[in-house]
Amino acid sequence: MEVAAKTALSWRRRLLFSAVPLALAVVTRRDGTLNRRILRFIDFRVPPSSKPINGVKTHDIVIDSARRLWFRVFVPTQQPVDDLPVIVFFHGGGFAFMAPNQDIYDSICRRFARQVPAIVVSVNYRLAPEHRYPEQHDDCFDVLKFLDDEENCSKSLPEKTNISRCFLAGDSAGGNLVHHVAQRACEFNFQRLKVNGVLAIQPFFGGEERTNSEKKFEGKMPLASLKQTDWYWNAIMPPGEKYNRDHPIINVSGPKAVDISKIGFPATMLVVSEFDSLYDWQKRYYEWLKKSGVEVYLVEYPNMCHAFYIFPELREFEQLMWDVKEFIHMVLKKDNLKRVGMMKTIAENGE
Ligand SMILES: *[C@@H]1O[C@H](CO)[C@@H](O)[C@H](O)[C@H]1NC(C)=O
Ligand SMILES: *[C@@H]1O[C@H](CO)[C@@H](O)[C@H](O)[C@H]1NC(C)=O
Ligand SMILES: *[C@@H]1O[C@H](CO)[C@@H](O)[C@H](O)[C@H]1NC(C)=O
Repeated sequence: MEVAAKTALSWRRRLLFSAVPLALAVVTRRDGTLNRRILRFIDFRVPPSSKPINGVKTHDIVIDSARRLWFRVFVPTQQPVDDLPVIVFFHGGGFAFMAPNQDIYDSICRRFARQVPAIVVSVNYRLAPEHRYPEQHDDCFDVLKFLDDEENCSKSLPEKTNISRCFLAGDSAGGNLVHHVAQRACEFNFQRLKVNGVLAIQPFFGGEERTNSEKKFEGKMPLASLKQTDWYWNAIMPPGEKYNRDHPIINVSGPKAVDISKIGFPATMLVVSEFDSLYDWQKRYYEWLKKSGVEVYLVEYPNMCHAFYIFPELREFEQLMWDVKEFIHMVLKKDNLKRVGMMKTIAENGE
């Protein structure tokens, strides 16, 4: 990661980033379980704040305490809320780590809230390996059902929030959740909520096959090595059954894929980067979305690796904020002229 090395990145994040392989080795037990107690030393949590921090105030809403399903709401304080989009966000971390109150994700969501601007709902779904598929996907979908309920929505989001301006966003494992939750949302009859668009930021997909990008970056990047990704898939898939990595939840665009060509899958912005071992899986996802007739915008970040956006000091972080903002406003304005233009620019740059 030359670019990262040249930029003055906050020491703690850089440490965390480069320590991921080591940390994983320390917290994963041989029987496949996690020693989460050790994690407490590197895991920084931030409480919600009713006093605005960087122009955004936050509060937490519990949906179901028995399964610890809750979300953090980020509300920008400089704008009236009634015409703001609502971004329902699923964090990354291999389905096994991180949370909305983890400082990395608290600050990423805060930036989305301020810069788009938007109301952001960041979901605390259950983690693997203690919980397995489909619990994570169910938790995320249940948040949409909760927000669709008029009374629950008005109690948890600011008054006058327009929930028909909803977008789903997620990075890495959250990008996987975003895809499957969007698919379920298309087949569900919501009363008020509408998913207008999907933001899949370096989504985590895979398969039995080893792709070129996986082989090329093996042992060269701190995140998303084959050893790690195999561990994550084993951790989330139910044991004792014949789940391999060609399950449609993982190999999303393979021959066993669900046909999404007739369900009205929402407009999608797909963020990929050159030095991500998951790049080839994501490009296949892109081709498959296109083939299925989805309006999809591929945004490529050269020179970036997996999870580059945890470093707000990077120029590319600003670029990502800007791209997300552009996409959301373009979709909401139903600006077809601009859509065609954006498609064209992306096609010229990306392919
Ligand atoms: C609304 O909230 C209540 C209390 O948390 C919950 O029991 C109910 O299931 C929610 N409704 C929906 C549709 O999620
Ligand atoms: C909510 O947003 C939708 C979609 O942008 C818009 O058509 C509708 O008029 C808005 N409703 C209100 C009450 O502003
Ligand atoms: C996984 O997906 C790729 C295409 O993306 C395909 O070549 C491969 O055969 C798939 N495997 C299965 C069994 O679906």
